[in-house]
Amino acid sequence: MAPLSLRALSLLGLAGAAAAAVTLSVAKSGGNATSPYMYGIMFEDISHSGDGGLYAELIQNRAFQNGTLDAWSAVGGATLALDTSTPLSQALPRSVKVTGGQHTAGLKNSGFWGFDVKKSKKYTGSFYSYGEYSGRFTVSLVSNTTSEIFATTTVKSKSVAGRWTQHTFELRPTKDAPDISNSFVLEYKPTPHTELKFNLISLFPPTYKNRANGMRPELMEKLKELNPTYIRCPGGNNVEGNYAGNYWNWSATVGPLKDRPGRPGTWGYYNTDGLGLVEYMHWAEDLGMDVVLAVPAGLYLDGEVVSEADLAPFVQDALNELEFLMGDVSTPYGALRAKLGYPKPWKIKFVEIGNEDNLWGGLDSYKGYRFRMFYDAIKAKYPDIFIFSSTAEYMYKQSGRDYHEYTRPDYFVSQFGMFDNWTAGNPIMIGEFASIQNNTGKLEDTDWNAPKNPWSTWIGSVAEAVFLLGAERNSDRVWGVSFAPLLQNLNSYQWTPDLISFTADPADTTVSVSYPILSLFAKHPLTHTLPATAANGTSFGPAYWVAGRNDAAGTYLLKAAVYNSTGGAEVPFRVGFDGLSRGAPATLTVLTAPGGPFAHNTPANKNAVKTAVTQLRAGEGGVLEFSLPDLSVAVLEAKW
Ligand SMILES: *[C@@H]1O[C@H](CO)[C@@H](O)[C@H](O)[C@H]1NC(C)=O
Ligand SMILES: *[C@@H]1O[C@H](CO)[C@@H](O)[C@H](O)[C@H]1NC(C)=O
Ligand SMILES: *[C@@H]1O[C@H](CO)[C@@H](O)[C@H](O)[C@H]1NC(C)=O
Ligand SMILES: *[C@@H]1O[C@H](CO)[C@@H](O)[C@H](O)[C@H]1NC(C)=O
Ligand SMILES: *[C@@H]1O[C@H](CO)[C@@H](O)[C@H](O)[C@H]1NC(C)=O
Ligand SMILES: *[C@@H]1O[C@H](CO)[C@@H](O)[C@H](O)[C@H]1NC(C)=O
Ligand SMILES: *[C@@H]1O[C@H](CO)[C@@H](O)[C@H](O)[C@H]1NC(C)=O
Ligand SMILES: *[C@@H]1O[C@H](CO)[C@@H](O)[C@H](O)[C@H]1NC(C)=O
Repeated sequence: MAPLSLRALSLLGLAGAAAAAVTLSVAKSGGNATSPYMYGIMFEDISHSGDGGLYAELIQNRAFQNGTLDAWSAVGGATLALDTSTPLSQALPRSVKVTGGQHTAGLKNSGFWGFDVKKSKKYTGSFYSYGEYSGRFTVSLVSNTTSEIFATTTVKSKSVAGRWTQHTFELRPTKDAPDISNSFVLEYKPTPHTELKFNLISLFPPTYKNRANGMRPELMEKLKELNPTYIRCPGGNNVEGNYAGNYWNWSATVGPLKDRPGRPGTWGYYNTDGLGLVEYMHWAEDLGMDVVLAVPAGLYLDGEVVSEADLAPFVQDALNELEFLMGDVSTPYGALRAKLGYPKPWKIKFVEIGNEDNLWGGLDSYKGYRFRMFYDAIKAKYPDIFIFSSTAEYMYKQSGRDYHEYTRPDYFVSQFGMFDNWTAGNPIMIGEFASIQNNTGKLEDTDWNAPKNPWSTWIGSVAEAVFLLGAERNSDRVWGVSFAPLLQNLNSYQWTPDLISFTADPADTTVSVSYPILSLFAKHPLTHTLPATAANGTSFGPAYWVAGRNDAAGTYLLKAAVYNSTGGAEVPFRVGFDGLSRGAPATLTVLTAPGGPFAHNTPANKNAVKTAVTQLRAGEGGVLEFSLPDLSVAVLEAKW
């Protein structure tokens, strides 16, 4: 709060003075058709946003892919050991060997920091076992603190010596667990000589749209509220990889789970790749999004670059991937897709070559040969695919560009005009953006050595909105925008702030203060920008806006934000829409944060942002009058 009153004092007693009205006359034509992809999402597996997050698998380290027994412990006095003598598959060479135990033996999983156990949910599980055992297995969801059993069932063993067999089961809790401090237990009745191995031990709650191997419903619902038109996936840094060979290779992410090796991801934990290429397609289908498919482009995060002579296999992998997704079932990879159960091809309209290839010394080789090799090969086979370069610093032929901006509030506001002079022809996607640090009093960009804010702050979110209004004013050339990172597991994360935070407990799911702004803007798409003639010295700052119309809805729209008004005063608006008659109804939605510039959401206080919806009527000449408070974001919508 201090900065506000200081500012009021310093501004020559202007505090409380009525600010000059923003007076606009909006024409009905003369604007530009906008990109239909303005608001999208960007995804990569950072902060357990995939494994342990959106991907609904509840068992952590289900297939020992990373060569550890993390998240597992023994029950019944048994002994657990990693075993590689009898691989379940080529992709999953390690299993857990369980020996010993008295009346019972087995193992227990702690989940991704707990398990949400609800009576209303059916849990679907499976595991492989190896070794002779003719009794029954018992699987349960059990309280850590009281040992109370919330759900249990038995599975008749099919386990035999010398071969892996799969068992499936369902768990139906008899009551809700009071908290998530629960474990999953798999046990059996050992004889003194019983030695069993287990692998791919899996448990799913109900998933979004009941997809097998699917997604957590309540997180998908949160994404749906963002009205996303596209998803940029599967990353990010995670596409590139940390070191030679460690890139995201699509072919290892498709097929039965037992054939997916996974890989050490770039964010310090192992990716199971259970959330693989097909699952991305289902996700896009389920939320009605188009995919901006990022393909690895031969730059590793340690600065190593694949040479021109060695790049051809990567280009071929990208072509194979596109054939897998789009090819006729008569093509080799189209046939593979059909064999895996998906005869109907998907449609890929957008491809991005790599990620941030301007970093880590990658730009010279990107400009020199890497981008061109991918672009020419993909365009030759798929002329209709629109291809993005991964940096605003490079474009080639008809490519688009991807621009990332993580900065401070004042800096975002200073970039309001950034796209005004952007040339047509190479549209730009703001593939990642977020306000991550506080203002410093000087106009400074991010200091990567200084801490980032743990949560988005309201002043940062309003500043993002100003930047987005600048993008929307130019949305004939700005193709789309996506906040990043999207998701954060509060028990294990590598980056803040994030858009949606969560734990195993659905009650903890928390959206940041940027989320309601993105949702509001995305739910009011413009089909055309419109010229807004400003009267009486009206100029941008402290108020910013874009005017437009939506032909499908038959509406005029004004999106606006107020950032640091003089003395914190409200800013009056007088907005005349061409041809709007006196008495015409309009709806004004205004977002504010009563907690001030640093208001933010946490799991304990999820509603820092207030939404006020007001019905207005146009006055003489179709003019709509209203005021917006300092640090507010608004959408005005009028039926013409
Ligand atoms: C339409 O686009 C042109 C350049 O592409 C720009 O000069 C003009 O200001 C835009 N009009 C509106 C209303 O945004
Ligand atoms: C439950 O207990 C296991 C050990 O048995 C532990 O690793 C895990 O952290 C506990 N989970 C929670 C949510 O406290
Ligand atoms: C386990 O994961 C870490 C972090 O992702 C990685 O550095 C390590 O190489 C992995 N080990 C194996 C055996 O995959
Ligand atoms: C990606 O994986 C596939 C299948 O394992 C392999 O054939 C291909 O060579 C890999 N790509 C590269 C560029 O190494
Ligand atoms: C865009 O171009 C106009 C006219 O040349 C200039 O006045 C304005 O400062 C430029 N804006 C930006 C953000 O560079
Ligand atoms: C806006 O106000 C904040 C304090 O709330 C201050 O840190 C920042 O520098 C101000 N920025 C501008 C452009 O006035
Ligand atoms: C940003 O400013 C707020 C309010 O003073 C403070 O609580 C927070 O710690 C600051 N963030 C950082 C990263 O310094
Ligand atoms: C311009 O400002 C004057 C004085 O404040 C006011 O009387 C007039 O109505 C304004 N014009 C418009 C178009 O708003």
